[in-house]
Amino acid sequence: MRTLATLALTVLLALSAAACSSDDGSTGGNSATRAGHVASLTGDGAKGATTYDAKCAGCHGADGKGVSGPSLVASPKADLTTQAMVTAVLDGKGTMPSFSTLTDEEIANTIAYVKGELRNK
Ligand code: HEC
Repeated sequence: MRTLATLALTVLLALSAAACSSDDGSTGGNSATRAGHVASLTGDGAKGATTYDAKCAGCHGADGKGVSGPSLVASPKADLTTQAMVTAVLDGKGTMPSFSTLTDEEIANTIAYVKGELRNK
């Protein structure tokens, strides 16, 4: 029983250490570093559709052509680099809130959906 508890604790500690090291802990949340990491991931656009519809479509439109937020499928926003788009999602911009609570994969998938499926609709 005690061994099991020790094992569980060890796993927990290892997990939290891993979580910290992937989060550039030294500078207390440098979002530029996180944005670079997210932008380097290969997002899965098919998976990103769910997050886009839930979190982004209200302002950017289900078709991405914009409502209160700008169109993401037409210039000039469509010309943004992936990293610039990720930064907007992580930090927010103007009246757009931050979505930094999404996981790196969710953000990468959502951007892949915008740059892929949505623009090719
Ligand atoms: C509450 C409304 C709202 C929501 C929700 C929202 N946005 Fe935005 N978004 C905006 C507005 C407004 C702007 C324009 C900000 C500005 O330039 O001042 C914007 C700008 C952007 C830009 C362009 C950033 C730039 O540098 O010009 C991107 C990319 C973007 N949004 C992606 C997303 C994604 C992806 C989501 C979902 C995770 C999302 N937005 C959710 C309102 C929203």
